Amino acid sequence: MEKEFKLMAAPLQGLTEAEWRSGHFRMFGKLQGEVEYFTPFIRVEKGEVRARDLRDFTSELNRGIMLTPQIIFKDAEEWKKLVNALAEAGSKRIDMNMGCPFPPQVRKGRGAGLIPHPDIIADIAEEMAHYPELQFSIKMRLGVNDPKEALELTEIINAMALRHVTIHPRVAKQQYRGSLLLPEMNDFCCRLRHPVIFNGEISTPADIESLSSKYDGVMAGRGLLARPSLFAEYNSSMELSEKEQTEAYLGIIHETASVLARRLCGHAQLSDKMKPYWEYAPSALDKKIVKQGKKSGIYH
Ligand SMILES: Cc1cc2nc3c(=O)[nH]c(=O)nc-3n(C[C@H](O)[C@H](O)[C@H](O)COP(=O)(O)O)c2cc1C
Repeated sequence: MEKEFKLMAAPLQGLTEAEWRSGHFRMFGKLQGEVEYFTPFIRVEKGEVRARDLRDFTSELNRGIMLTPQIIFKDAEEWKKLVNALAEAGSKRIDMNMGCPFPPQVRKGRGAGLIPHPDIIADIAEEMAHYPELQFSIKMRLGVNDPKEALELTEIINAMALRHVTIHPRVAKQQYRGSLLLPEMNDFCCRLRHPVIFNGEISTPADIESLSSKYDGVMAGRGLLARPSLFAEYNSSMELSEKEQTEAYLGIIHETASVLARRLCGHAQLSDKMKPYWEYAPSALDKKIVKQGKKSGIYH
């Protein structure tokens, strides 16, 4: 039997929230086959699970979408708070962020900041055993400064019951740029007993194809924002023209803005919320439209 190759839409804070996901799913849900979407990380703030983050997961807009909430935490206490809240909200799957490179999070030991702390991860592994009804996964980098850091976690991660481990082959100090550390990723992957999902710089159907024999799936972030038809094109083996790709991009911008407009108060809020999407505009899109989008957030 052929092994199932998974397609996943990466979580991107401020971008792949319910409004974008619902627009993307409406446009490509039928063509792209099964795609798993992830919420941007849900966190504890002032001792409480952020209500706004939880609402993004419980929103009606997620209807019909295969959606997994992601959590970010610094220790077993925060982890339990988040997991209990999500279990109560009906989640059956939870993704654990061990990759966020944002320095304030890393300094506090969250995201990639957890990687140098096997003791804390071992505590969490123990807690996981108390939630047999939930399925967990990890999304991680190879380290904070050195890609060998992840190797220290091999035993603990292998002892966990996990659906998969998603790996972005960089260290936190690289943020989202610089070369992908592929040999170092291989070194780590070959020790893991879990399915591995590759994440990083996937922007064309050919990129996905080239990873399909080596990994159990791929997760695309910025590449999917710029080319929302990416998974649909891969799944149907039919590439869209550049013009069709840019139309799809503008289509989702439009959908996202019109859903957001119902929730936000006024033009200024909508404009601020939409501006970041234009950072990922496809290169074939008219430069004047992109400039206007970056300035006003909106496309008419
Ligand atoms: C603006 C932005 C926000 C992000 N937010 C999250 C997040 O909430 N959770 C997470 O695991 N990764 C987050 N990431 C990382 C992406 O999920 C992904 O790992 C990264 O962009 C590399 O994949 P790509 O090259 O396909 O974009 C974020 C990245 C960016 C650029």
